[in-house]
Amino acid sequence: MRFNSIRFKASILYSVILAAILVLFGSVIYGSVYNILYHDLDEELKIKAEEVASILAAYERVERGRSHPIATMLDLLHSEYAAADRRMIVDDIWKSQLEVLNLKNDYINIMNARGQTLFSSHNYTADIARLFGPATPSDLTALHYRSFSDAALRLRMINLPVSLGQIRLTVQIGTSEDNIHSVLGRLGLFLTLAILVFLAGTSFVGSYFTRESLKPVREVVDMANRITHKDLGARIPEKTVDAEMHELIQSFNVMIKRLETSFGHVSEFNSHVAHELKTPLAVLRGEIELALDSEKTPAEYQKVLSDCLEVIDHMIKVVKDLLLLAKLDYRPDIFQFEDISLTALMDEIAEQSRILAEPKKIVITFDIPTEDIRVEADKVHLRRLFHNIIGNAIKYIAAGESVRVSLHRQGQTCRVVIADTGPGISEEDLRNIFRKFFRVPRADDTQESGTGLGLNIAQSIAKAHNGNINVTSTLGKGTTFTVELPVLT
Ligand SMILES: Nc1ncnc2c1ncn2[C@@H]1O[C@H](COP(=O)(O)OP(=O)(O)O)[C@@H](O)[C@H]1O
Ligand SMILES: [Mg+2]
Repeated sequence: MRFNSIRFKASILYSVILAAILVLFGSVIYGSVYNILYHDLDEELKIKAEEVASILAAYERVERGRSHPIATMLDLLHSEYAAADRRMIVDDIWKSQLEVLNLKNDYINIMNARGQTLFSSHNYTADIARLFGPATPSDLTALHYRSFSDAALRLRMINLPVSLGQIRLTVQIGTSEDNIHSVLGRLGLFLTLAILVFLAGTSFVGSYFTRESLKPVREVVDMANRITHKDLGARIPEKTVDAEMHELIQSFNVMIKRLETSFGHVSEFNSHVAHELKTPLAVLRGEIELALDSEKTPAEYQKVLSDCLEVIDHMIKVVKDLLLLAKLDYRPDIFQFEDISLTALMDEIAEQSRILAEPKKIVITFDIPTEDIRVEADKVHLRRLFHNIIGNAIKYIAAGESVRVSLHRQGQTCRVVIADTGPGISEEDLRNIFRKFFRVPRADDTQESGTGLGLNIAQSIAKAHNGNINVTSTLGKGTTFTVELPVLT
């Protein structure tokens, strides 16, 4: 697995999120158990302290009237001079209570209102007393719990002020926290292990699933690596994959299809170009071979050279048209659009067309309205569009026939209709007329010179102006070209 792969990043992201959730969850559990354990321990300590207080109260009742209860108690518990039998009874009571309360291991300290220790259990040594610390004013008046620890001991202590009649005492009981810590330690260990095991398990499973779901990417990559210009027909099978992958594969296939189409056009175009240039080159070669074949008169040489010049001119025209077409199709920035008057442009074209029609004695009429129709156009290219269509009409119709050019506006569209009374074009040829290098084949020898690119250029220019060219024709009756352009409002 690579470090900069989606799979690695997804696995890391999921693991981090999952780890955060698990740690949070573990902390909540740990915290709750911690609180519950301390709460229970505090409750237990309180019960013990209250019981100790009630034992003290019992001493007071037993000894009431005879002496001060604390003095009696001290006397009972500590005095060298107490009657042995009474001391024994009280000690027995005390001992049995200690047993009931499980106080044996606890540290007990009972203080008077001034914070002086009146009584403490045997295990309440100087070290423990130091740990408990001197009594503060709040120790003598308020119930509270505290935790202490040193190197050997961890204690939880309750501080419970009690009143026995006139006397105010404070009962302090300290008990070991070891149980709590051992439970918490085991719980912490368990949670840590559980989180680690769970994380390892889920990241393994997650990594497996991401690998499975990213498998189609590998297929796309393999396929992309395999595809060359020779097998653009290959497609990635759109089998059952996730929606995103399906989209990716579909886009990829559509892209290859587009490439295939473009590549088809390019190779078709190349073979056309080669063919178009091969014929005139062969003619040139033939002419030159013929000239070299035998001695010629200067007039004959002149004829050969002028024929060659004609062929070369044709080739230059083909190359120029091809260069223009390449620009029209792939360089939309060559157009310099501006707000122009189509009416004025048509007037200009009418003038030039009449001059062109003159030698063939073709009648060309223009029906241009006085209304100023304005379009957003590149004047130079739009002029070329109309010249190509009108030039064709003049070129392909017979002498004496007519061409009629009219301009109309219909809503947001204007139409320039170029209708001739010429030979017309068959339905089949009409379908190909806008294709590059297409020329209607003539059986006789009357083929006019041309490149077969004029109408293709015209259509490209119309498209660049958001317009269109339509053609209708009837064999023997004539052809009508209609150029549609959007009008500027
Ligand atoms: N008005 C027309 N009448 C009859 N045939 C036409 C007319 N205009 C075009 N054509 C046919 O369409 C073909 C393609 O025209 P074009 O693309 O301009 O190429 P070119 O004029 O160089 O041959 C022409 O060769 C011609 O056969
Ligand atoms: Mg032409």
